[in-house]
Amino acid sequence: MLARRMSPEETPTYNPRMHRGGKLSFRSRLPDGDDDPGAFLVMGGMDPPPLAELVPANMRVEIEIGPGKGAFVLAATEARPDTFLLGIEAAPGYASLAAQKLRQSGRKNGRVLVDNGKIYLQDRVPDQALDAVHVYFPDPWPKRRHKGRRFFTDDVPAVLARVLRDHGFCYVATDNAAYAGQVARVLGSAADFTRDEEREVSAVALGPGHAFTPTSFERKYLEQGRVIRRYAFRRLPRGPAR
Ligand SMILES: C[S@@+](CC[C@H](N)C(=O)[O-])C[C@H]1O[C@@H](n2cnc3c(N)ncnc32)[C@H](O)[C@@H]1O
Repeated sequence: MLARRMSPEETPTYNPRMHRGGKLSFRSRLPDGDDDPGAFLVMGGMDPPPLAELVPANMRVEIEIGPGKGAFVLAATEARPDTFLLGIEAAPGYASLAAQKLRQSGRKNGRVLVDNGKIYLQDRVPDQALDAVHVYFPDPWPKRRHKGRRFFTDDVPAVLARVLRDHGFCYVATDNAAYAGQVARVLGSAADFTRDEEREVSAVALGPGHAFTPTSFERKYLEQGRVIRRYAFRRLPRGPAR
């Protein structure tokens, strides 16, 4: 008799915090010497540390979901030394690269965690802890059966509304027109958010590391002449407690 095939949830290596897609590699070579990311890289594993253990208590805190090789985190730590940038990256190889660059920069206001960004926001970030969440060129997961893996699904406004302080921002950039439409629909129709088009312009004008720019995918897509859509959604102030 053929053995019943186990579901992913039943297999011993299943980790719900990680991507199930084959696209991401969770292997990375062991760093040594100059490319040792040291304490700038935190492997989340099954029980990642809560936000308070990863960031200083006395600073503004922003999170970038999916920083890739870390261009935006690097620029933001340089442009805004009063702000702590936590990158949450699902792929350990990229996370390690970004963390190495942070260590080499000599700056102390950034760190990279290997985890699933949305789950981390849901179960490790306290209410109103963040000044901004940045999501640049999120994976579009174009196949119909993978759509649930997108970051901007219908559950995301409640997740972001809880962790952002009043007037905090969620910044998004994408080259994918269909995904841009989904972002505009999901956050644009959320009662706790308003799109701030002035901020979309002024954040870019402030220069690298404020919002949207620079990222590796932005550079690649600009070279290819693709249209990039950028959104800034502001968290509306909470009303008086009822
Ligand atoms: C298309 S790349 C963009 C990288 C970078 N933001 C840029 O613009 O150059 C998407 C990145 O998001 C990461 N990623 C995808 N889903 C994620 C998740 N749920 N949590 C954290 N990172 C994720 C991927 O590993 C990848 O590095």
